[in-house]
Amino acid sequence: MNLSVKNLIGIKDLSVTDINLIFESAIDFKSVINRPIKKVPTLRDLTVANVFFENSTRTKLSFELAQKRLSADIINFSSNNSSVNKGESLVDTINNIISMKIDMVVIRHPNVGVPHLLKDKIESVIINAGDGTHEHPTQALLDAFTIKENLGKLKGKKILLVGDIIHSRVALSNIFCLQKLGAKIMVAGPPTLIPKYIKDLGVQVEYDILKALKWCDVANILRIQLERMKTHSFPSNREYNLFYGLDSNLISKLSKDILILHPGPINRGIEISSELVDNEDSIILDQVENGVAIRMAIIYLLSKHINN
Ligand code: CP
Repeated sequence: MNLSVKNLIGIKDLSVTDINLIFESAIDFKSVINRPIKKVPTLRDLTVANVFFENSTRTKLSFELAQKRLSADIINFSSNNSSVNKGESLVDTINNIISMKIDMVVIRHPNVGVPHLLKDKIESVIINAGDGTHEHPTQALLDAFTIKENLGKLKGKKILLVGDIIHSRVALSNIFCLQKLGAKIMVAGPPTLIPKYIKDLGVQVEYDILKALKWCDVANILRIQLERMKTHSFPSNREYNLFYGLDSNLISKLSKDILILHPGPINRGIEISSELVDNEDSIILDQVENGVAIRMAIIYLLSKHINN
């Protein structure tokens, strides 16, 4: 089976069948990366460019490792040590990279819509590794895959997104992905960090974190994105932590276990306490491991369109 899309621009474009196909392939690739020999020769004819105009640890390394595990050739571009600093435009930069016979471009950019713009301008397959505050489709897929791995299914599960929803591409992609898979979504956070349109997406809103946690099966704790705020959207980090920070004291008030996710990078002591992050039951690093398998699945499935 093939994906119904030729590029991965956003979760919005994927069907439920596409998502399930990615998950099935990711299960196979997860077993590959847990073998003594973690590599398959599947994509040795593929050349991929990882083009990052914004900082990244997890996504960039995870894509790079996924490509290496599939035996693809790769080149890495970071705007901060490139000719972008001499005034070269986005399209000129990409066209120069593409002219080196690149089959697939993984792109992260601080501006919304850049992967969408490129898909109409270049022949290569495009994968969105995060565009501004818009979408981060591979993060949503690895989050949903991790929840399914732990709970068995998504249908009917209650998923809470906590914190900086308004600046979060992870939030929007999670909402699209989890709703497609039949989950119910609630967001919780200060009113200044919850977008006004959120209810139009069929999402519940709760400003009391304890009530929200009592409702959910899973809490995905989002990073406060201070770099996207001209001024703080709340009085201070300490104030935020007091009202919305997750710690073991808050969790002890629930009469049930919940699954806690965080996409990273983590602001320890602001949105979540170190003791919850470092707890032996924490699955935050499992999300990172699953990210490699999910990205292998996506690269593999999209590469089938190139060979056809
Ligand atoms: N989760 C995530 O996108 O992390 P990076 O910004 O480090 O890639």
